[in-house]
Amino acid sequence: MVPNIHLFRFSAPKIARKAKAGQFVVVMIDEKGERIPLTVADSNAKDGTLTIVFMEVGKTTQQLGLLQEGDSIMSLTGPLGLPTEVEKFGTVVCVAGGFAVAPIMPIARAMKQAGNKVISILGARSKSLLFWEDELRSVSDKLIVTTDDGTYGRKGLVTEPLKELLEGPEKIDRVIAIGPSVMMKFCAKTTEPFKVKTIVSLNPIMVDGTGMCGCCRVSVGGQTKFACVDGPDFDGHQVDWDLLAARQRTYLPEEKQALEHWQCQHEKHS
Ligand SMILES: Cc1cc2nc3c(=O)[nH]c(=O)nc-3n(C[C@H](O)[C@H](O)[C@H](O)COP(=O)(O)OP(=O)(O)OC[C@H]3O[C@@H](n4cnc5c(N)ncnc54)[C@H](O)[C@@H]3O)c2cc1C
Ligand code: FES
Repeated sequence: MVPNIHLFRFSAPKIARKAKAGQFVVVMIDEKGERIPLTVADSNAKDGTLTIVFMEVGKTTQQLGLLQEGDSIMSLTGPLGLPTEVEKFGTVVCVAGGFAVAPIMPIARAMKQAGNKVISILGARSKSLLFWEDELRSVSDKLIVTTDDGTYGRKGLVTEPLKELLEGPEKIDRVIAIGPSVMMKFCAKTTEPFKVKTIVSLNPIMVDGTGMCGCCRVSVGGQTKFACVDGPDFDGHQVDWDLLAARQRTYLPEEKQALEHWQCQHEKHS
């Protein structure tokens, strides 16, 4: 993979049998660990495995990144959330920002299997952060790669080829955008004038993942929704992006403190 991004394959037969594109699991490393949601990147009902791809951003993802082949975690709960709506729409554009190539893969594959023409746009800050290009190409009729710094593919942001596709001769029937919130927001802003339905996968802070704590509250079309049970997929044109960004920042001091404390403890014991 690429620095700070890991792919783990868990043996979780019951979840693997049920998981559908767009769903997620809640991971708990040990009895004192926090619960973090991670999207199912792949599931194999035959061998009972479930694949997740995650980026190290704080305490729990760094701790998870230290696990070795053969290790186990305390709990893996899922599949959670509503699956992505998959049907024959016509031409579907799948846009993935950064490590979101992993969550977009099962969606692009399912869209292709449903008979859609799939055009994928894969963007990253730099070439060294790109992965699964061939995998995404294998489930797409066309793949456009962009890097912010121009080290690979086309230089620029994913919204540029997205806009060109919308302006082009081919009718685009649906856009799915997954990645950092700011990237999903600007994909939705790009498609809005063209009135092309744009589905985004929201990533608010989640705790239980089953609709009980209210932590993942988002506002969509002026209505309060819980991303874990009403989503995580929503109509990107209806999302209150400012509220999402503000709520994602709620625990920044605590997250920083938890990471520093854990790093300090980890150094003492290693
Ligand atoms: C439905 C869903 C699917 C996700 N899928 C993936 C995935 O496939 N791969 C991946 O790398 N990341 C994914 N994330 C984000 C991932 O859950 C966070 O990166 C992780 O929880 C960070 O935990 P931490 O302790 O390492 O970092 P922290 O330092 O605790 O937090 C860093 C940032 O991560 C976010 N975050 C923290 N805790 C949570 C939480 N409990 N729930 C959601 N976000 C949180 C906050 O924005 C926070 O500022 C997903 C989030 C959601 C909601
Ligand atoms: S995570 Fe608790 S209600 Fe959604």
